[in-house]
Amino acid sequence: MTEHTTVSPMSLMTIAAGFRRARLLAVAVELGTFDALDRAPSGTTVRNFAAATNLPVRTAQLLLDGCVGLGIITRKDLGTGETLFSNSTVAAEFLVRGTRYFFGDYLLLNDFRGYQGWMTLADAIRTDTPTSWPNQQPLSAHRDPAAAHAMSRGALDPGTRWTASVIARSFDFSESRSVLDLGGGIGAYCLELAEHYPSLRFTLFDQPNKIDIAAENLSTRSNGEPRFELVAGDFWRDPIPTGHGIVLLSNILADWSDEDVVTLTARCRAAVEPGGAIVVAETFFDDATKSTPETAVMHGIHMILETHSGRNRTREEYCTLLSEAGFRHVDTHDLLETAPGANGLLIARP
Ligand SMILES: C[S@@+](CC[C@H](N)C(=O)[O-])C[C@H]1O[C@@H](n2cnc3c(N)ncnc32)[C@H](O)[C@@H]1O
Repeated sequence: MTEHTTVSPMSLMTIAAGFRRARLLAVAVELGTFDALDRAPSGTTVRNFAAATNLPVRTAQLLLDGCVGLGIITRKDLGTGETLFSNSTVAAEFLVRGTRYFFGDYLLLNDFRGYQGWMTLADAIRTDTPTSWPNQQPLSAHRDPAAAHAMSRGALDPGTRWTASVIARSFDFSESRSVLDLGGGIGAYCLELAEHYPSLRFTLFDQPNKIDIAAENLSTRSNGEPRFELVAGDFWRDPIPTGHGIVLLSNILADWSDEDVVTLTARCRAAVEPGGAIVVAETFFDDATKSTPETAVMHGIHMILETHSGRNRTREEYCTLLSEAGFRHVDTHDLLETAPGANGLLIARP
């Protein structure tokens, strides 16, 4: 008889099955599971759910059971042999279409684009070339306007609004009269911050194809408020807009190399008003081992697929780079809670 090993492969199986969890969540959104449950606030039986979603009863049952297993649907046994299924609090808040911080389209984007991108991970690692954008261009360059437009309109705004809301509540932006959102994407941060700080003005700077979408987004959602200025440009070549007490860099620096981080933040330092600050929002590693939190680890791997030179960093690494860029005071600032797009801030002052 062979010797029985004392270790088990179950930890490997748990990792291997991770994609099933991600796909089940995305497919549940795609099939309108949470919308159907929302229409039955006191809970629904499998049969009623199957009828409402036009699914076979057997697979509807397995879908609901699977979502209960993920912890995003709750079940209540009535003692009559009937079970009622309802949305969990998190599903009701983030997975029902039309809710303020609807996260479902972002999950679908993650499933559609992220999943395909990750299929090419071995090539990206072997060749040190980003592979996840269909035309082989890195996502950060957004050189495919049609694809970028579809992605941004459908998913990026609602996907980033919660992170923007956490950042708005975690740091007092009212120390400044105006904020420059550098690489601000399609305006989610401007919109969210504007709600929290009614007297702040904003300049959003991004590449032209993003600015077009931001213009649409801000004009349809801001009730025509003249608080948003949009500037199209390239933050490597064009002047960084001046006259702002805060320059926000949210999810920008991890896309770039150490040298680029120093160059870009030095350009921001030169542009910020005297007494002002740059606010860096990122998903930082906890410490120099760079093995936690898992969100930073996985985002770091994602940077292989999406960028030529990007990587996640510790707060300390950023502090060193910011000091090389000429910032004399860099403070770490905790968020009130970890958000999908950031787990902390750095406040750097010249
Ligand atoms: C990862 S996204 C972050 C968007 C937003 N700040 C957020 O936190 O969700 C990076 C942004 O940087 C912009 N960007 C990349 N390269 C740029 C450049 N050279 N000039 C201006 N914007 C650029 C992209 O268009 C994109 O909107």
